[in-house]
Amino acid sequence: MIKKEVKHLIDIKDLTVKEIDDLIKVANDIINNKEKYSNVCNGKILATLFFEPSTRTRLSFESAMIRLGGNVLGFSEASSSSVSKGESVSDTIRVVGGYSDIIAMRHPKEGAPLVACKNSTVPIINAGDGGHNHPTQTLTDLLTISSEKKRLDNLTIGLCGDLKFGRTVHSLITAMSQYKKIKFILISPEELKLPEYVKKEILDKNNIEYIETNDIEEYMSELDILYMTRVQKERFFNEADYIRLKDYYILNKEKLKTAKKDLCIMHPLPRVNEISTDIDSDSRAKYFKQAEYGVYIRMALILKLLEVK
Ligand code: NCD
Repeated sequence: MIKKEVKHLIDIKDLTVKEIDDLIKVANDIINNKEKYSNVCNGKILATLFFEPSTRTRLSFESAMIRLGGNVLGFSEASSSSVSKGESVSDTIRVVGGYSDIIAMRHPKEGAPLVACKNSTVPIINAGDGGHNHPTQTLTDLLTISSEKKRLDNLTIGLCGDLKFGRTVHSLITAMSQYKKIKFILISPEELKLPEYVKKEILDKNNIEYIETNDIEEYMSELDILYMTRVQKERFFNEADYIRLKDYYILNKEKLKTAKKDLCIMHPLPRVNEISTDIDSDSRAKYFKQAEYGVYIRMALILKLLEVK
């Protein structure tokens, strides 16, 4: 008997553009026909193994599985699992694979989900690994962009804040670099610039145009999308550096004065101070809607990985 290959999602590069487009199509069908999907995962179990804090990602995964008619189990902090007794991630995954049909895992160490999937008999989804990748946030972002802008090409995208440690930024750049006529404006303080490996291996390799600046207003009038991010406190070695950089950018009405009328303002959330709450009522603010899109795209992803028709 041929052993069936288990599908995982560790890096957004694991998906082709066609597969991403298909996931977006399914997510839109789910949005328009929620009833049709409410029992398709009856009897299936999703395990959420979160070795690092989360609100949206974990709860949207759980909501996604429950909305598909399945069940969920898991833990939301490493201290409540046997990891605190010294168990390896590989052993945890092997065991949980016997208790569930699919696993979403978040871990503070870069590469942990990749190691985990080598020994897994069920699909593993990377729900964020350290400052590295966050592919399901990127799927959420792509569904948001395609819904709000009606296209995934021909866009000028401003990414602002912690481009060094922000894993959502790294995965989003990787995905968007596959579409036509994409230009990035990388807005960050010197210390939080996009890592060289992302510039070399993704932007340069794909001949993507980009500009680096520390001034949020300089290119504001050109942007179709402004993707704000939080300074990633938990990745800093030194608290004084975090305190110095944490309020470097605070988006407010004044800073948006030259922005396009149809600018799409996004943020993976949680927000700390980087977007003033005055902006929340601006029709261009899409970050709460973005969080909701996260449920529908995760529903589509679960269906794909479990091969549910
Ligand atoms: C992001 C993350 O965990 O990387 N949050 C999320 O998943 N929505 C962004 C962040 O924590 O700043």
